[in-house]
This record gives sequence, C-alpha cells and structure tokens, in this order.
Amino acid sequence: MAERKLQAPRGTFDVLPDDGQRRRELYRRAGSVLGRYGYRPFETPVFEDTDLFARGVGESTDIVRKEMFTFEDRGGRSLTLRPEGTAGVARAYVEHGMHKLPQPVKLWYWGPFFRHERAQAGRYRQFAQVGTEALGSDDPSLDAESILLLAELLEAAGVHQVRLRLASLGSFDARAAYLDKLRAHLREHEDELSEEVRGRIDANPLRAFDADHEGTRAAMAGAPQLLDNLSPDDDEHFAEVRALLDGAGVSYDVDPTLVRGLDYYTRTVFEFESAKLGAQSGVGGGGRYDGLVEQLGGPATPAVGWAAGIERILLASEGKLGGFPAPVYVAVADGGDRREAFRLVTALREAGVRSELEQAGRSLKGQLKHAGRLDARAVAIVGDSIEWKDMGTGEQRPVTNILEAVRIAQGLDA
Ligand code: HAM
Repeated sequence: MAERKLQAPRGTFDVLPDDGQRRRELYRRAGSVLGRYGYRPFETPVFEDTDLFARGVGESTDIVRKEMFTFEDRGGRSLTLRPEGTAGVARAYVEHGMHKLPQPVKLWYWGPFFRHERAQAGRYRQFAQVGTEALGSDDPSLDAESILLLAELLEAAGVHQVRLRLASLGSFDARAAYLDKLRAHLREHEDELSEEVRGRIDANPLRAFDADHEGTRAAMAGAPQLLDNLSPDDDEHFAEVRALLDGAGVSYDVDPTLVRGLDYYTRTVFEFESAKLGAQSGVGGGGRYDGLVEQLGGPATPAVGWAAGIERILLASEGKLGGFPAPVYVAVADGGDRREAFRLVTALREAGVRSELEQAGRSLKGQLKHAGRLDARAVAIVGDSIEWKDMGTGEQRPVTNILEAVRIAQGLDA
C-alpha cells in the first residue's frame, strides 16, 4: 500500500525564509512601537483549561461553539489550544494578583493562536497575533492610546490604506436593556430572518447585524441601534474617546453595526480594515472588556486591548520589511586553504560583517556565480594569498592578511 504523502495540516503553513525575514522585521518594529507606549512583553501558555474560553470568550460565540481545538490530556482534563489571547491574560492577571501592582498593567504578546475555521486566503487554523492588554483603568485615554498604538504599528508595518471602524457597546446593564429591545424587534420580523439568526435570537441577537442573508439585512435596517441606547456615563466615555482620537488626528467611522466575535466586550470596540485583504478584511481589532477579570474570579477590573493578525499585516503591507545588508562572500580557490577561509569568515562575523562561506564544493567559477546570486558586496578569494574583489566596482586587489580583509569589509559600511 502506498504511504500517504505527508503535508502540513489544512489551514496551517510553513514560514519559508523570505517570509521568516519579514516576520522577524515586523516583530522588531512592533516591539519598538509597543515599548515606546510603555507596554511590556508577556506570555501565557498555548493551551489552557477549556473552561477559561467557555467562560471568558462566551458559550454563544462561533469561536467556542465550533472553532476550538479541544482535547483531553492523559489525566482526563479538557484542554484547548488558545483561540485568542485576552482570556489567558485576564486569567494570569488574577492568578498572579496583578491588581496589587501599580495600575494600569500594560502588556503585549506575540504568538500562535488556533481556530478551526474554513481555511482561505488570510484565514488559517494556526495564525499568529500581536496584541496588547491594559488592565486596571477605565480612563478613556487608555482606549484612545490603544487605538493610536495599533494605528502606528500598522503604519510602521507598511499597512497604509486602513479604515478604522469604531463603536461603543455600553456597559453590560445598558446593553441588557437594549438587547431586550432588539430581541423584540427580531421577533416582530422573525419570518424574514435566516434560520441561523432566528435560532440565536435569545443567545446572541447582536450577530443579526453581521448576517449576509438578504431578508435578515432588510429586517436589520430598521432595528434599534445600541449607540442610541447608551447610558449617560457610557455616552460620555465614548465622546471622550472620540475627542482624544480627533485631537490626535486619527480618522475613523463610527459604525453602529460593528460586531466583534467575542462576548467580553463593553463600551469601546474597534476594528482596522484593509481593502487589500479582500473578504478577510479585518487586520486587527479589540476593545474594552470591563467585566472579564471579575467574571474569571478576580476583582472588578476595567481593561482594554486589541490583537492584530501577523499574516494579515504581512498580506496588507506595502512596505519593504526586512532584508539583511548584502554579504561578503568568502570563496576558496582551487587548492586554497579551507581552514584559512574558515578563519576569515569567522573573523568577519566577529567584526559584525555579514558574511558567507563556500560550503557546497563549487568550482571557483561556480562560487563567483553563487556570490552574484547572494548579491554579495564583495568576494574574498582565499588561495595562496587573499584576493579582495569589490562586486560594485569590479576592482580586485590582494590583501596581506585576515586583519586587513576585515578592515576593508568594515569600511564598506562606513
Ligand atoms: P479577533 O478580532 O478575534 O480579536 O482577532 C484579532 C485579529 O486576529 C483579527 O483582526 C485577524 O487579523 C486575526 N485573526 C483572527 N482569526 C484569524 C484566522 N483564522 N486566520 C488569520 N488571522 C486571524 C481577538 O482575538 C481579541 N482577543 C482581541 C482583543 C484583545 N480584544 C481585547 N483585547
């Protein structure tokens, strides 16, 4: 019987070197922007108790209902590969008593996440997110700062044409009253709705705003809007967030139909979209989650954060991310001393010069061709002595020893 061909699992991908380079560069730029805003790096495990997501993300969400990779460990405990990062961060905040630290606690993370979604361009079953969480303050400046930070990070990543959608969901109480109103509206129009929306009038009526189904869309056109039903406190909070964004010159669309796929949100929610992404246009999004920490057993702790998909950022990026400086190539002439060549490449690297050594048994002609492929700035040919060839000018000259070769190479950067 023929053995099955082994492939990466559906919805996953290998990061090939060119892409690896871009991811590294994005990581570097993200870290620099995040540090400037006072966020500190943080990591949580890749799997957690299944309960954490059921309670944190919400039983009625698509993520918990059908997208989690859940498994039993050998002790019979139900574990789940994390579909998102906020629940884990909130769990860790409680577990480590971080409410005793000076507030707000500002954290950022970068790592793999898992959702069993239908795979397509920009949508994977394992993907990476960069995200922030700021816990312990309900100050509107923290909302505005989070949004500004993501805007700046996207800009630094070369993602330029973005649209920012912004809304407020209000606090849980005001939302509960509004949801009753919305349910009444949906019941009135029950026979126009898609089956899925009809089945979730009780559990998750907000999702009706997100439906593609034509009848549902028509029925939703006349639906009451949450933004018109906020409490005075929530209204004021949202107005302040907008004023701060206006002051910072950030443009946005207030969009009452913005629905986020997670249940923990309160007050501010936002999403950045890029037209370059097609159907999966969400490049990053987040919002406030003032009830989550308490819901997971901690003290009442307002918080706000966001996450952005690394693969989507890279798909939407128009910038040149990454690339090392061109190398110096150390070639070995026929009969040349391979150990001397090894000493030379080691000395170059120790001196901070990116350099490569011939390691595949090529002829000298083949080596020079390969140096061209690597876009080498210079080639050092180790024979009886060392010949230095500048690939820019074509000029070739002998150098007396390794030290001189290193000095010339360093001069290339000066
Ligand atoms: P989210 O909107 O579910 O939010 O995901 C954030 C970003 O992750 C999306 O905008 C998208 O770029 C990326 N993403 C999500 N699913 C996939 C997928 N299947 N394939 C590729 N990329 C994907 C959250 O996860 C919240 N935890 C954000 C947050 C933090 N809210 C408050 N704090």
